[in-house]
Amino acid sequence: MSAVREHPEGTARAVVYTETGGPDVLQVIERPVRRPGPGEVRVRMHRAGVNPTDWKFRHGDGGRSPVEPPRVPGQDGAGVVEAIGTGVEPALNGLRVWVWEAAYQRPDGTAQEHAVVPARRVVTLPDTASFDLGAALGVPFITAHRCLTVTEEGPRRLGPGTLDRRTVLVQGGAGAVGNAAVQLARWSDARIIATVSGPEKAQLAAAAGADHVIDYKRQDVVAEIHKITPRGVDTIVEVSPAANATIDAAVLAPYGSVAVYANDGGDEFTLPVRALMAANARWQFVLLYTAPPEAKNLAVEDIMAAIYDGALRVGADAGLPLHHYPLDGTREAHAAVQDGAVGKVLIDIAP
Ligand SMILES: NC(=O)c1ccc[n+]([C@@H]2O[C@H](COP(=O)([O-])OP(=O)(O)OC[C@H]3O[C@@H](n4cnc5c(N)ncnc54)[C@H](OP(=O)(O)O)[C@@H]3O)[C@@H](O)[C@H]2O)c1
Repeated sequence: MSAVREHPEGTARAVVYTETGGPDVLQVIERPVRRPGPGEVRVRMHRAGVNPTDWKFRHGDGGRSPVEPPRVPGQDGAGVVEAIGTGVEPALNGLRVWVWEAAYQRPDGTAQEHAVVPARRVVTLPDTASFDLGAALGVPFITAHRCLTVTEEGPRRLGPGTLDRRTVLVQGGAGAVGNAAVQLARWSDARIIATVSGPEKAQLAAAAGADHVIDYKRQDVVAEIHKITPRGVDTIVEVSPAANATIDAAVLAPYGSVAVYANDGGDEFTLPVRALMAANARWQFVLLYTAPPEAKNLAVEDIMAAIYDGALRVGADAGLPLHHYPLDGTREAHAAVQDGAVGKVLIDIAP
């Protein structure tokens, strides 16, 4: 049988892992290209974005456990739709798109030349937006959108004016999610305070659009925030609740909320119940995968609107330096994210 008949769609390179473990479990293999099934599209990937979630899935519990079927890592990416399955809007074919949540509870992530993904996980990428931007959107921006829209008296949608006269504190303003939160809050006209460690990250948070940047290693965060806003902040986007719980409780305004999206620095913390009761404060935990589907759909719509407004950017002058790796360098790309790379790690799959 000829190779063409065996694999009517041809073969292409994909990064896969068949067991959990360190970056060394990632292999680049040549495998048949799959035809999209009902409700699916196939995207010629140009970029894959790498997020901490990718290495955490790959790492598993730290041991070597079999992964069956083999998994292609990567939730986020950008490319061009090249084939559609039944039931998919034909107009999608040929469009530039960004892809989100490609690999949650499914094996076909974005670190491959041709990714088959559900059509509901691809979104048009305007010609004005680069593939680099498209691949940087999914995990960080949808998570940040959720964090900015869970405050009791705040908006459920973002956009110009929606956070007017509200103050947002982004703990870790130079991180990928932190950067997304600053950019979305800037677009929505919030007053933004960001915390960072060190002058390099301070510059990045300011470049993203933060009005005030506090170096939490060198400054008294509570005192600095009270100088800026004696009333306190309305929304806190929190990466490290264990380290910052006391600060958050001290600077939260009445009816304010702390959106906890990570447990960097520890998984447990204590809070002063009485003071927070008096403030009717809210602690909202956020996990992208299990967030309400409607909230994620609204986030995607708002992110689209922000792109059309030219409000979302990547690169050092947007506070998000880019680090490019080839598909063959996916191990190094994962290691870079695991080691805390500052900015956005991207895998270049096509020019
Ligand atoms: N819940 C979800 O759905 C969701 C979605 C996306 C990401 N995440 C998780 O969120 C975490 C961050 O992801 P990322 O992609 O943004 O990573 P990242 O780009 O590495 O950013 C993490 C940032 O947090 C800062 N940070 C750490 N401790 C801090 C503290 N005590 N105060 C202020 N800032 C602090 C770090 O800078 P310094 O250490 O220099 O301060 C760094 O800038 C990861 O654990 C990831 O798995 C969760």
